[in-house]
Amino acid sequence: MPRAAAIIRSGGLVAFPTETVYGLGANAFDAPAVARIFEAKGRPTFDPLIVHIADRADLTHLFTEAALADPRIAILADAFWPGALTIVASARPEVPGLVRAGLETVGVRLPRHETALALIRAAGTPLAAPSANRFGRLSPTTADHVLEQLDGRIDAVLLGEATEIGVESSVVALDVDLPARLLRHGGIPLEELARVLADHGGVVAATPTARPGMPLQAPGMTESHYAPMVPLLLVTAAFPEGVTACALLAPDRASLTHLEALAAAAGVTVHASVALSETLDSVAAAAHLFERLHELEAVLISRAVPAARIIAAPYPEGGLGSAIADRLRRAAATPQ
Ligand code: TXA
Ligand code: MG
Repeated sequence: MPRAAAIIRSGGLVAFPTETVYGLGANAFDAPAVARIFEAKGRPTFDPLIVHIADRADLTHLFTEAALADPRIAILADAFWPGALTIVASARPEVPGLVRAGLETVGVRLPRHETALALIRAAGTPLAAPSANRFGRLSPTTADHVLEQLDGRIDAVLLGEATEIGVESSVVALDVDLPARLLRHGGIPLEELARVLADHGGVVAATPTARPGMPLQAPGMTESHYAPMVPLLLVTAAFPEGVTACALLAPDRASLTHLEALAAAAGVTVHASVALSETLDSVAAAAHLFERLHELEAVLISRAVPAARIIAAPYPEGGLGSAIADRLRRAAATPQ
C-alpha cells in the first residue's frame, strides 16, 4: 500500500478494486496524471471522471459551498455511502477541468471497499478513477481482467476482494431547486433513490437525448460534454468568411504561428492565442485543454467582442491526441 500511495503522489496510475468494478486511479488534483488515465485507456474522448473519497469531509475540497448546502447530499450519503452511488454537483474551481470534462460539476463517490479506502487514505488525496478497462472493452471485476487489458500501460494493480456488485455506481445529479436526476443506472436502484428522496423532490431518470449533430454516447453520457459559449471553428487552411475577431487555439507552437499568420492574412483581430503545448506533448495538452478553452472563452466574453469565434487547429490523431481531437470536433459541432 505505501508503494501504491507513493505512485499516486508522484503522478502515476494505480488500478484498485472497488465494490462495483476495478477503477484506474490518479490523484484527482494532478491534471497530467489524470490525462494519463485517458492515455492508458485509449479512450477516444474525454468523459467526466468520478472522484473517489475516503471521508465525507473531503467533499469540501470538491463541491462548492452552495452545492454543500443542499440537504440531499447528506441524505444520500447517509443512506448509500459508503457504496455504489456517485453524486454530481457543482465543482470547486480547483477540480481540474479534465476530471470534469469541462463541465461545471464533478461526480463524487465514497466506495465501500477496504482496499480502495486504504489507497485513498494512504495517498492523502481523492482519486479520479474510471473503470479500469481499455476503451470499448468490458469493465473489469478482477485484477486479471485489469492486467489483460492494461498491463504495461499502468504503474500498479492492487489485489483485493472480488468486486461484489459488478456493475458501476448509479450516478445522480443534484441541481439546486430541481428534482435529482439519475444520469446512469447502476448499483443503487432508482426505486431506492426515490424512497430516500421522497420528501426532497424525488428523482427522475434522465432520458438520454442526442443533440443535433452529435452521436448518442454510451449510457450515462447525457449532457456530459463541454459546450463552449463562444462558437468554435476548426480551421486548417484559410479563415472562414465573416470572422472578424477571434481567439486562437493550436496543438503546438508551430501550428499556433501558422494560425496567427492565417489570421493576419485574413485581417482578423486576435484577442488571445494559446498553444496546448510547445511540442505536441499530448499528456500536457489534455491535462489543460478545458481550462484553456474556458480562458479563451472568458477573454472574448469579458471584452464583449461581437461575433467572436474561437478558431482552433485540429489536433493530430493518434493516442491521447485522438481524444483531444474528438473533444475539439464536438465543441465545434455544438449548435450555437
Ligand atoms: O462504479 C463506478 O462508478 C466505477 C468505479 C471505479 O467507481 N467508475 C466508473 O467510472 O464507472 P466511468 O468513468 O467508467 O464512468 C463515469 C461516468 C461518466 O461516463 C458519466 O456518466 C458519469 O460517470 N459522470 C461523472 N462525472 C459526471 C459529471 N460531472 N456530470 C455528469 N456525469 C458524470
Ligand atoms: Mg466505464
